[in-house]
Amino acid sequence: MLVTGKQILQHADENGYAVGAFNVNNMEIIQAIAAAADELRAPIILQASQGAIKYAGIEYITALVKTTAEKIDVPITLHLDHGTDFNEIIQCIRNGFTSVMIDASKYDLEENIRRTKEIVRIAHSVGVSVEAELGKIGGTEDQVVVSDAEVAYTDPEEARIFVEETGVDSLAVAVGTAHGVYKGEPKVDFDRIREIDSVVSVPLVLHGSSGVPYSTLEKAISLGIRKVNIDTDIRASFARAVGDFIRENPDEIDPRKILKPARSAMSETVKEKIRVFGSDGKAWK
Ligand code: G3H
Ligand code: ZN
Repeated sequence: MLVTGKQILQHADENGYAVGAFNVNNMEIIQAIAAAADELRAPIILQASQGAIKYAGIEYITALVKTTAEKIDVPITLHLDHGTDFNEIIQCIRNGFTSVMIDASKYDLEENIRRTKEIVRIAHSVGVSVEAELGKIGGTEDQVVVSDAEVAYTDPEEARIFVEETGVDSLAVAVGTAHGVYKGEPKVDFDRIREIDSVVSVPLVLHGSSGVPYSTLEKAISLGIRKVNIDTDIRASFARAVGDFIRENPDEIDPRKILKPARSAMSETVKEKIRVFGSDGKAWK
């Protein structure tokens, strides 16, 4: 069942858990996440970045996700992750994405509001939900690169103004996490999450959640995080499983045999996350 970003996060908000938003690039990753969600009866967000769309082709991504949504009976949102390009965001809306992220976080508040508002106007006119980002989350997520010096935590008062003026459905916040592999342990600013959540009416999104200790994620969720983004940990499971298999079976050339253990490994990773987010058993009809 394909649902909008607003619907899936509203259910999470009402029931006090977070939805896992997992990045997808190909069939095996989508199947791995779908199998985990189906087994644990968890609502999920399958999200493609602009880089994923470039790699796989938008028709393949949408067809794979739509097939998944027909095959398994859990709520699924098809979401564009970190949309920085107006035309690409429109292309996703036209192709049946049920949610898009406009990432205009590199601009100042006024310009971020202007760009976000424009996407909200278009997306809402056809029933598509919108996530936006305020503050600057560090690290690298495909084409979006933010150096340590550029990182800027989300200001609660600005967040209140931003959400009111743009009408977005969810807000990605910069509170200490970063994209990619962490060098040390991330320090999440819990007070900031609490403060933003108290002045903002929409669900909050945590990016850069791979490698974050589970106790930290659980606390962040208890304070109002409703969407938790995971890409790096799935990539790591995939690469580790493929590497192990090839080392143990150097003569194997059948892609199916090489990718099958990787698909299972990714599924295990996703199941672990779903349990931490408290979204297991939360699928609704
Ligand atoms: O937008 C995607 C996520 O924020 C990815 O974060 O690199 O920690 O998996 P990650
Ligand atoms: Zn992100």
